[in-house]
Amino acid sequence: MTKLDERYELLDLGTEGLSESLAEATQRGLTASPKELPCHLFYDERGSRLFDEITEQPEYYPAQADEEILRDRAAEIVAAAGGPLELVELGSGSSTKTAPVVDAILATQDDLVYRPIDVSRAALEWGAENLLDGRDALRVRAVCGDYAEGLARLGAGERRRLVLWLGSSIGNQTRDEAADFLRRAREALAPGDALLVGIDLRKDTETLEAAYDDSAGVTAEFNKNLLHRLRDDLGADLDPADFVHRAIYDREAGVVRIYLESRRDQVIEIDALDLEIPFEQGERIHTEDSTKYSLEEIDALAKRAGLVRERTWLDGEERFSESLLRVS
Ligand code: TRP
Repeated sequence: MTKLDERYELLDLGTEGLSESLAEATQRGLTASPKELPCHLFYDERGSRLFDEITEQPEYYPAQADEEILRDRAAEIVAAAGGPLELVELGSGSSTKTAPVVDAILATQDDLVYRPIDVSRAALEWGAENLLDGRDALRVRAVCGDYAEGLARLGAGERRRLVLWLGSSIGNQTRDEAADFLRRAREALAPGDALLVGIDLRKDTETLEAAYDDSAGVTAEFNKNLLHRLRDDLGADLDPADFVHRAIYDREAGVVRIYLESRRDQVIEIDALDLEIPFEQGERIHTEDSTKYSLEEIDALAKRAGLVRERTWLDGEERFSESLLRVS
């Protein structure tokens, strides 16, 4: 990271690695009923690579739509937010979608401080390096840590803040959790500040289930990466091929639920945990939920959090949304 210069600063909250370990989560989740594994376990090195591949699958429209809106509407979004701005991003990863927003802001003001908050230090550094390259008026003040805590630590700002929360990460929380999180975000911000939240929309079952079960099988492989981790990192005597990837849309709840389903009756021994886990044929491990919203539900969500939905942008096919939520 020698290319990072004085325009880059990192605050490490020291929370990396604090989330439940693979062993703890497996012990808890596979002895629970129904069985579950937490979604943060997807993202070891192989899982992160597979996720990047998911975003390139034709069926996984949320990635294309999110990118399309930011690319085509960045100037409008920035004008609606009202500057001069400071830019914050939650779960920024390597900031690949952020560049058009940064450029739209720099077209309207002389300089910009960008504050990405993410649990991955490597992603923060790689993202900062890319963004700083060729943008002399940009400074990056990265925070490595949990994003609720990163937000709470922002302190008073000199400029109005625009907080990006992209990529439908909000969908991985329940509706109650999302409202709570947005309320806490609002409390960490000042009147006039705004959040731009990427939210996937309710739609037909076929499109949604295909988005989470692409024909190339990348999402299935990503889900099964959890089984690879149990086998390779914990010594579980299982064959990933004994499980099927399932993505099922519960239309009434507006939630795509992701599972690993056992193809047969089997008992899995996990040496490292001294555990034996029985499975019946058809029994599932719940690995992720992705909640979808209607525009009315987005309004209700904003209201519960004490925010005002000022504007919403959709992609050309009206599959995905970005909403500007204002702290009043
Ligand atoms: N959580 C993201 C989403 O809901 C990412 C994701 C895409 C995902 N495909 C997945 C998570 C499959 C778990 C399983 O869009």
